[in-house]
Amino acid sequence: MRVRRALLFMPGDSRAKIAKGAGLGVDSVIMDLEDGVAYSQKPAARETSAAALREIDFGRTERLIRINPVGSDFYTDDLMLTISDRPDGYVLPKVESSTQVQIVSEWLYQAESENGFPQGSIPLLAIIETARGVINLRDIARSDQRLQGLIFGAEDFAGDIGAMRTPEGAEVLYARSAVVTYAKAYGLQAIDTVYLMLDDAPGLQTETRRILEMGYTGKLAIHPKQVAPIQAVFTPTANDIAAARRLIEAHDAHQKAGKGAFQLDGKMVDMPIIRAAQTVMARAQAAGLA
Ligand code: COA
Ligand code: MG
Repeated sequence: MRVRRALLFMPGDSRAKIAKGAGLGVDSVIMDLEDGVAYSQKPAARETSAAALREIDFGRTERLIRINPVGSDFYTDDLMLTISDRPDGYVLPKVESSTQVQIVSEWLYQAESENGFPQGSIPLLAIIETARGVINLRDIARSDQRLQGLIFGAEDFAGDIGAMRTPEGAEVLYARSAVVTYAKAYGLQAIDTVYLMLDDAPGLQTETRRILEMGYTGKLAIHPKQVAPIQAVFTPTANDIAAARRLIEAHDAHQKAGKGAFQLDGKMVDMPIIRAAQTVMARAQAAGLA
């Protein structure tokens, strides 16, 4: 599965923003056909995004398309008018049932064979952003082979349950915790919601740090200036890597000597601590640092 630390949204009808997004070194871009696009612009957004897939060199950046909700009037055209230009994956908004994921997956098997793409090669990410999405997480998380990650959408979720957003986010803590828990239970990535305050770099960093600590593997971005701070939080420092290596080496030595738990620098170390160190090493490897 590819690394998705920051995923930058851009309106699918903005050629300028898509072109800019292609040159930022971001792990993924998401060309949006849903709520970032006015109703009158939906056809233009499909065309502009498809043309961008054909014409723009995105380097190593993954090219994702967010379609409209499965069941809406728009999503079939979104798929039909972009598939032949082979996006790297699709993002499904407002997912509330396993069926919605499976409908797109089935459609893609057919489209892959018609276009000569390998079967099952186009992955899906599902946004959980309604109360029903949260209560159906178990079914959604295990709905389909193509599904690689769950994305938490806090703004829509708060709107759906009639909550008011606060900087601390207590009103969305249950849903945010549920999304990462179900994602991890089924081997999926967990990607956190957007941070709306474009000029609040310290706030973005604090929030990203917090959701990393919760187990999230990536975060949505909405402006180029959010990309580097997010990717930095998900990239371990040289100190983090050295500490993780030391723990794993000490653990291996104790295992060889037949000892499970031991102490290092006045702290008890056993398997959960080692798993956390292995997570740091996996992040380092993903960022090409180890
Ligand atoms: N992706 C790529 N490029 C972007 C961008 C984005 N999300 N947001 C801004 N840029 C570009 C601008 O085009 C501009 O480029 P330029 O200097 O080459 O002209 C530069 O970055 C600076 O942009 P700025 O003037 O600060 O922002 P703006 O007023 O043009 O746009 C928003 C502000 C919020 C409208 C814009 O950031 C945006 O569209 N974000 C994504 C919205 C979205 O997709 N929502 C749906 C999902 S929540
Ligand atoms: Mg939304």
